Amino acid sequence: MCKSIGFVPTMGALHEGHLALIKASKASCQITVCSIFVNPTQFNDPTDFEKYPVTLAADLEKLEIEGCDVVFFPTVSEMYPDGTSQLRTYDLGTLETILEGKCRPGHFQGVCVVVDKLLQAVQPFKLFMGEKDFQQMAVVQKMLEITGSDVELIPCATVRSPEGLALSSRNARLSSKQKEQALAIYRGFDLLSQAEFTQSLLENGFDSIDYVACADPFTLHEKPYGEKPYIILVAAFLGGVRLIDNKSFL
Ligand code: PAF
Repeated sequence: MCKSIGFVPTMGALHEGHLALIKASKASCQITVCSIFVNPTQFNDPTDFEKYPVTLAADLEKLEIEGCDVVFFPTVSEMYPDGTSQLRTYDLGTLETILEGKCRPGHFQGVCVVVDKLLQAVQPFKLFMGEKDFQQMAVVQKMLEITGSDVELIPCATVRSPEGLALSSRNARLSSKQKEQALAIYRGFDLLSQAEFTQSLLENGFDSIDYVACADPFTLHEKPYGEKPYIILVAAFLGGVRLIDNKSFL
């Protein structure tokens, strides 16, 4: 009997956001596979790669409690047996030149390479990804089209702390004071302009802002602030940690 496989790719340091993806997979697939792999080819900043939290033992425990059936945690040489200098590239169009694509050159090529390889290894029926990385979802959908894959991408809502902070593995690098300051992102979504949002982040201790953008939720092309349907996307640094988040207004 062919069992339907649901797949949750992660880079570990698992939190409730990841576990929500596991739950979603378990609810609609017979077997759930989770991968844990801190993918070197998607880090455009070597310091970010070095500082990425690695918590394998705790991750395995969480996945066991959640009832995840299979955990795949390959090594770099298993994923990239021929090295990383001659990898496939994907024509992602403007997705690669706007917002995250613009700020993190090469990042989305690395994401596509690794997700493509993981899908070939796992052969899932459905792929579960979080809406916090909204542009990443659009990029992976495009990669699925380019490769002719029939895997169904299932977007899952961002999981937040009760106060509104989007859960992220990078939050582990924030102090409790910085976690309070980071709430300025959530509050900022309801501000009426890009300038007010930017100013509020700076006033709340953010070091710098990569972008606060209002975009069409389907193409991610920028549009006038507040003209529905739209999505506000933010990327900003707090205490040297890069945080991203978004909210849709449909
Ligand atoms: O979102 C992530 O954690 C990563 O980009 C992913 C999708 C696991 C690919 O390495």
